[in-house]
Amino acid sequence: MAKIIDGKAIAKKLRGAVSEQTAILKEQSVIPGLAVILVGEDPASEIYVRNKERAANKVGVHAETFKYPSTATEAEILDKVAALNVDDTIDAILVQSPVPSQINEQKVQEGIIPEKDVDGFHPENIGRLYAGQAGYYPIANTPRGIMTMLQHEKIDLSNKHAVVIGRSILVGRPMFALLQAANVSVTLLHQYTPATLRRELLAVADIVVVATGVPDLVMGADLKPGAVVMDVGMNRLPNNELVGDVNFVSAEKVAGAITPVPGGVGPMTIATLLQTTVELAAKHHHIELEQGWQNI
Ligand code: GUN
Repeated sequence: MAKIIDGKAIAKKLRGAVSEQTAILKEQSVIPGLAVILVGEDPASEIYVRNKERAANKVGVHAETFKYPSTATEAEILDKVAALNVDDTIDAILVQSPVPSQINEQKVQEGIIPEKDVDGFHPENIGRLYAGQAGYYPIANTPRGIMTMLQHEKIDLSNKHAVVIGRSILVGRPMFALLQAANVSVTLLHQYTPATLRRELLAVADIVVVATGVPDLVMGADLKPGAVVMDVGMNRLPNNELVGDVNFVSAEKVAGAITPVPGGVGPMTIATLLQTTVELAAKHHHIELEQGWQNI
């Protein structure tokens, strides 16, 4: 049976490290500020945003949410982003995805200055990641959180092959770049990958990251015995059960380690968002954080 990777426990440790850093920053009168823009009334997004705010306040990050109706115009959102870009109390800006169709998400992502781009979606930041540049720049929090989990579990990445399923800017693409930077050989699959090819590649994958929104896309029989499985899926079934993209019951019999849903990757996303907010605040105020402070 696979080891269950306890994302909730790892996230708690990371939030503890974030709290220590906010206390140090506070001694220098710096309170990290996170602004979240929420457009529309999507219930799932409202829950995410409320959880973000609550988690932020608990670790000494000042979080503000700006809510707009689903009829908000692109100009209104871009104006708000422009105001937050020059607001000295705000270090990190996040526009909750998805946004209503009258708003061009790409334009909004490009409107946030790279220095406050806590999601790592700005072309400058994603470009740096893809170029493998050294130095600090924000990186999407879900894939970064997955790297933290792999490190926490002391999973040896050298000479390994990873299969990432899903090519979103939120998870798949940055995950590809991060694993590659860690010297993993990475194969990136997506919805147009034929199922037969997906199975052939999964059979030779040491690490599997799935972020598709398709329940049971990966079954235990698809996995290489001992594989490490990171399930980013969050799917609500008609019976109200919350499941990932991996069939947990069959996969845990084959995998070496696996993240559950809920309680796996999800809690790490918010903890990593707070981590990135603190880093951006420190950078903004020219304060050096201790090297490796987030090693948990
Ligand atoms: N929607 C779901 N997850 C995320 C996230 O990490 N960032 C943003 N901006 N929107 C999301």
